[in-house]
Amino acid sequence: MKTTASSVLHFMLITSVIVHAFEPITTTIVAGAGMAALGNHLYNYIFETCNQHWIGFNATGLEVDLQSKLIGQHVASRVILKAVTGFMNNEDPKKPLVLSLHGWTGTGKNFVSQLIAKNIYQRGMTSGFVHLFTATAHFPHEVDLDSYKSQLQQWIKGNVSACPRSMFIFDEMDKMHPGLIDSIKPYLDFYETLDGVSYRKAIFIFLSNAGGENIVQVALDFWKAGRDREEIELKHLETALSLSVFNNKNSGFWHTSLIDKNMVDFFVPFLPLEYKHVVQCGRAEMISKGLEPNEEAVEQMAHDMNYFPRNERVFSMQGCKVISSRLDFYI
Ligand SMILES: Nc1ncnc2c1ncn2[C@@H]1O[C@H](COP(=O)(O)OP(=O)(O)OP(=O)(O)O)[C@@H](O)[C@H]1O
Ligand SMILES: *[C@@H]1O[C@H](CO)[C@@H](O)[C@H](O)[C@H]1NC(C)=O
Ligand SMILES: *[C@@H]1O[C@H](CO)[C@@H](O)[C@H](O)[C@H]1NC(C)=O
Ligand SMILES: [Mg+2]
Repeated sequence: MKTTASSVLHFMLITSVIVHAFEPITTTIVAGAGMAALGNHLYNYIFETCNQHWIGFNATGLEVDLQSKLIGQHVASRVILKAVTGFMNNEDPKKPLVLSLHGWTGTGKNFVSQLIAKNIYQRGMTSGFVHLFTATAHFPHEVDLDSYKSQLQQWIKGNVSACPRSMFIFDEMDKMHPGLIDSIKPYLDFYETLDGVSYRKAIFIFLSNAGGENIVQVALDFWKAGRDREEIELKHLETALSLSVFNNKNSGFWHTSLIDKNMVDFFVPFLPLEYKHVVQCGRAEMISKGLEPNEEAVEQMAHDMNYFPRNERVFSMQGCKVISSRLDFYI
């Protein structure tokens, strides 16, 4: 991008020299208009704007990333690819895309959100059109609920007005106050427009650990029955999810009518990760650090992690979460 910008600048300088050499008024006007166009062009290269240069869906990119980077999540991977591709290829969606990702800690929920962002926005998570809210960090005090509500509504409205293809990620959704969740409900629904703003091209992603334990139970049942993890299908997890999700009276998420109003398009389950996945995460981490994968170090690190249930030691307690920092001790 730098080279393009500087070559455009260079070209502008040369044009201005030529204009001066030739003089006639018409040439100056024409060149002036040309320069303004070039200026716009240049601006568009340097500053992120809400257009095709900065926002465009790469379906192949998402597929490749989900296949090669997301470890041990065959169910989530399939659902996400289908959901995002279907939505992004639809010229006229009837409502925004709403995904709710569920699962044990460190299984890749934030990671997958980054992969989605990267394949839609040139700048990925650092894009000005991607907004990440964390319940405990952004909305910590219940007494401020009313101001959080109006602030959040203004943010969503302001950002979608500025760019319809905006993405909002709500982390720790299970720790978010039900009142606050209720305040964003209108934006998730089937409205043509709301106060003149259309939200139908926006993407909302909710992340939570809700249902994580029930998903673990299903995975453990498969393991105990000696069945392949890859045999687990969405349908096996749907009951586990809906039971915990619909009946969990402690979780703020589910006190709201988000579910019975069918505002969530896809509930995406993330499976707990096993020893072999931790090893894979370790390898990937070494490569991303620019190191030669050291099999011995990676296996030692994976071996030293905590696994549950206590006797069977099947699933990693922290998933792949602490690997990046842990690995430093082993290399
Ligand atoms: N399935 C996975 N495939 C590849 N890497 C993963 C996977 N899960 C976790 N990781 C690695 O671990 C890090 C932490 O994972 P992530 O933040 O996505 O977990 P999470 O599911 O959001 O957990 P939590 O519920 O605690 O927020 C990621 O940045 C990534 O490097
Ligand atoms: C889409 O992603 C693929 C695979 O990562 C990559 O090779 C390709 O260049 C990308 N296309 C665009 C237009 O960015
Ligand atoms: C967009 O959202 C961000 C928070 O991510 C907020 O700081 C900003 O003020 C919002 N913009 C508008 C125009 O509302
Ligand atoms: Mg997370």
